[in-house]
Amino acid sequence: MSAGLTDEVLASFASTPDERLRTILERVVVHLHELVREVEPTVAEWEAAIGFLTDVGAQCDDTRQEFILLSDVLGVSSLVETLNGSPEGTESTVLGPFHMTASPARVLGDSIDDVGGGRRALVTGRVLDPSGRAVPGAEIDVWQCTEDGSYDVQQPDLQPAGNGRGLFHADDDGRFRFRTVVPGHYPIPTDGPVGALLGATRRHPYRPAHVHLLVSAPGFETLTTHLFVKGSPYLEQDAVFAVKSDLIVDFVEVDADAEGLDRPYRHADVDVVLVRTDVG
Ligand code: BEZ
Ligand code: FE
Repeated sequence: MSAGLTDEVLASFASTPDERLRTILERVVVHLHELVREVEPTVAEWEAAIGFLTDVGAQCDDTRQEFILLSDVLGVSSLVETLNGSPEGTESTVLGPFHMTASPARVLGDSIDDVGGGRRALVTGRVLDPSGRAVPGAEIDVWQCTEDGSYDVQQPDLQPAGNGRGLFHADDDGRFRFRTVVPGHYPIPTDGPVGALLGATRRHPYRPAHVHLLVSAPGFETLTTHLFVKGSPYLEQDAVFAVKSDLIVDFVEVDADAEGLDRPYRHADVDVVLVRTDVG
């Protein structure tokens, strides 16, 4: 009888003109029905599940994306990124919920730190294609939290909008450079339903220190990735399962001040490899 129900629901999508949409809906139904048969939730449990998702939606606004957070803590965002990545290019990882405001346009060499943090850093690199040729003019959108582990949107009274963010364009050799502070590790937001889920399951909410990069250029797949700070706590236990070992970068302490700065800083150098859209 219940197998007949599943077939009936599947048949209801038979006329969906978009084949991909039909396939996805069919698989969602098959897996959801299987899940329900396996777990046999009580009506109260199913209502609690609906209530939870309703709370997740209610927590979303212009500066908060609780559904992305839910996808993140369940490892789904990481899985989707990994499946869509190409072995030829730099590994991708999760976008996260904090890319919700436009990064201010900055010029190469600018600092994205507008609050004067102490643990200064210089990030340099090149945007390349898989054969090592430069991708001139590639757009590099970066965002990160402060040394204390907060994004600008989380501290509108303490941080100017755009702090820790920058939109750069690589030069003719595909090179980019910007100054910043070494970001701290931080807890993902725990004051909403996803935080309640972590609490109920005794999971910690921490992410290792990282800088987000969204790199794009005409003719190339857009890359969503991070630079993880080598040595940061939680590299082995990221709350959102996004660490990939190739993305861990040494922020090397520089004593001699080649950049004309008056204090020591840490230097991270990374090549970013974009994959052409016509490949695969
Ligand atoms: C972030 O790195 O900004 C992030 C990613 C996933 C969940 C929460 C935050
Ligand atoms: Fe982040």
